[in-house]
Amino acid sequence: MTPTWPDHLFLVGCGNMAGQMLVRWLDCGLDPARVTVLRPSGRPVADGVRVVTAYPAALPAGTTVLLGMKPYQIADVASSLAPLCVADTRIVSILAGTTLAELRDRFPGPRAIVRAMPNLPVGLGEGVTALFTDATTDAAARAAIDALIQPLGLAEWISDETLFNRVTALSGCGPAFLFRFADALARAGEAIGIPADQAARMALATVRGSATMAARASADAGDSPATLADRVASPGGMTREGLNVLDADDRLLTLLTDTLAAARDRGEAMARGE
Ligand SMILES: NC(=O)c1ccc[n+]([C@@H]2O[C@H](COP(=O)([O-])OP(=O)(O)OC[C@H]3O[C@@H](n4cnc5c(N)ncnc54)[C@H](OP(=O)(O)O)[C@@H]3O)[C@@H](O)[C@H]2O)c1
Repeated sequence: MTPTWPDHLFLVGCGNMAGQMLVRWLDCGLDPARVTVLRPSGRPVADGVRVVTAYPAALPAGTTVLLGMKPYQIADVASSLAPLCVADTRIVSILAGTTLAELRDRFPGPRAIVRAMPNLPVGLGEGVTALFTDATTDAAARAAIDALIQPLGLAEWISDETLFNRVTALSGCGPAFLFRFADALARAGEAIGIPADQAARMALATVRGSATMAARASADAGDSPATLADRVASPGGMTREGLNVLDADDRLLTLLTDTLAAARDRGEAMARGE
């Protein structure tokens, strides 16, 4: 599917996260001449992308704005940016914890405002982005923003804004949790006697190959990871014996539930300013 692009994309901030989104959009064919990045450092972003350090006098018609700076900068940014935003300007905010109500308050002009919570693999087109908006964003704008997010990987609209901290705990923090799992798999291999460098390579390749296999099995046959795990574990065999350890008293499930709950709770505490 050929992506459809906004007439113009104005990025406010282009650090780790917005930078990864832009990398992917450019890889997928977004014309860099359609992109302007505002960043205080003025550091170049990519060939053909205009970088500015101050706000322009006006935004081109049909601009989609990506708010990609830190959440605490919203007041400063809105005081300069809101007067440039007209009714058909579309705003996508990746600011963690900044509610749609606050965005609507700070940007009274635009009809279309969407909150998005991407994770880092968006740069590879294998990210997960949770999206939320309200009824003021019309169907056409919602579809246009969905089309912009599609090249980044999985796009999931959520119906309840209060789910953001929970989905952030899963997919936003998830890459770090999986990195930890891959590292633990390697160290466990070392602990049972495999040379460290080989264990590290084998653990990483196992995680990557298994993730690809699980994604294909789900897409092709609707098989879940749980089904795949049982399918590869014959009774009395090695894999079953190992799974019995992970499954005992729902050990792994409990560990991951505690992990996500801790991340979610931290998100809620930060939203209260703690
Ligand atoms: N990192 C993640 O995994 C992740 C995931 C989901 C959402 N987010 C959200 O993404 C946003 C950015 O996080 P990040 O990790 O990408 O931060 P970051 O790497 O520090 O990038 C922040 C960007 O904001 C720019 N900036 C600083 N002051 C500004 C100002 N006054 N006006 C406009 N731009 C300004 C910076 O400019 P310079 O480049 O010139 O320094 C930089 O490009 C946050 O709101 C965060 O909640 C992050």
